Amino acid sequence: MNFEFHNPTRLIFGAGSLSKLGEVVAEHGKKALIVTGGGSVKRSGTFDRAVESLKDAGVLFAQCSGVEPNPRISTVVRGANIAREEGCDVIVALGGGSTMDAAKVMAAAVLYDGDPWNMIRHGQDQVYTPAKALPVITVPTLAATGSETNCGAVITNEETSVKSFVADKCFYPRVAIVDPELTLSVPKNQTAYGVCDLITHVTETYFNGIGGTPIQDRFAEGVILTAMEWGPKAIADGKNLEARTQVQWAALVALNGWLQVGTDYRMPVHMIEHTLSAHHDVAHGAGLSAINPSWMRFAAKSRPERFVQFAQRIFGIVPKAPDDMDCAMKGIDRFEDFLRSIDCPTSLSEIGIGDELLSRYADDTLLVAKDENGNLSGRPAMNRDDIIEMLR
Ligand code: NZQ
Ligand code: ZN
Repeated sequence: MNFEFHNPTRLIFGAGSLSKLGEVVAEHGKKALIVTGGGSVKRSGTFDRAVESLKDAGVLFAQCSGVEPNPRISTVVRGANIAREEGCDVIVALGGGSTMDAAKVMAAAVLYDGDPWNMIRHGQDQVYTPAKALPVITVPTLAATGSETNCGAVITNEETSVKSFVADKCFYPRVAIVDPELTLSVPKNQTAYGVCDLITHVTETYFNGIGGTPIQDRFAEGVILTAMEWGPKAIADGKNLEARTQVQWAALVALNGWLQVGTDYRMPVHMIEHTLSAHHDVAHGAGLSAINPSWMRFAAKSRPERFVQFAQRIFGIVPKAPDDMDCAMKGIDRFEDFLRSIDCPTSLSEIGIGDELLSRYADDTLLVAKDENGNLSGRPAMNRDDIIEMLR
């Protein structure tokens, strides 16, 4: 197990921390572009509080509102243009993963004269690898992606229905202000999708890592168990700040890189889901929930030991042998039961997707995420037929 780990994002966590926004932004620039989504931060009062804090610190600001879920490259271009015209030197991302992702890519696009889509990866390829970006301060309002402290961003090209990611060092936010109070207004369904998303970040690592990583396994199991304990509480009572706090911390830890170190993980479920949401604009967490149990059943056949460990340590199912397939499958069934218990979909039909375009989804996924052998990278790797069969 060899690795390097460096996550440079300064983290300010806890209820009430939004009040620090102004002083933090003032450390990085004089005029901020505040990037927001479709209006939730204005309805909740979060936007006004953020503006108040900036004004108190003497920071000027311009706005780019209307970042859509599954953010589009045209929105990135629009935001970068506003930032340039307004002379902004720092970006504040105030919203969910979509807003934060769009803001990160805007921050690099401001300093790049070419087409920002050139930054988005296609498999191993990236036309332009950005090395610089304006400083970004993230203020998540939804617990899900972990985008607040990682260097990833996922963007959709609406003209080609391709959704893919970037992950370069310059996309690490300078500071993340993570205030669980801001998530009190998230509706039940989005809260549940966030729980699915964060758990899937962990299961992708757990099942697609190299193995022989006992500490990472225990970290992962701790995050999954915590999300399964506190997620339903946050869904049942959205105003439960303690539950919101635990879920938000779990979401952040699930994808800030710490759980992933040394595992050489892959994210096949994510790559397939990105294709589904590019075509059908489904909520990311709902798309993941719809396919993750099926992917697990596919993968368990070649790596039963990982799934037996999961069944035993997460659900207390006692195996008869380290590769007891019956135990592995029971664990997956129990996981699927959990997803259903929080009203998350476990089939494509539940998210309104039929089987007419399954081969297109496989082709599009491979277009952006194929490995050197032409397969979808994962453990196991999936060929076109595997993807189609799994989705069916
Ligand atoms: O747009 P607004 O009005 O803000 O409403 C949003 C949106 O409708 C709403 N919402 C957010 N905060 C709220 C709220 N509603 C009430 N109160 C609040 N406090 O929730 C809806 C969904 O928002 P969105 O940002 O789309 O959700 P999420 O955080 O799940 O982000 C999903 C996006 O992130 C990408 C996904 O692919 C998807 O595009 N991902 C980014 C990753 C990363 N950067 O590391 C990793 C993930 O795996 C994922 O792929
Ligand atoms: Zn995700």
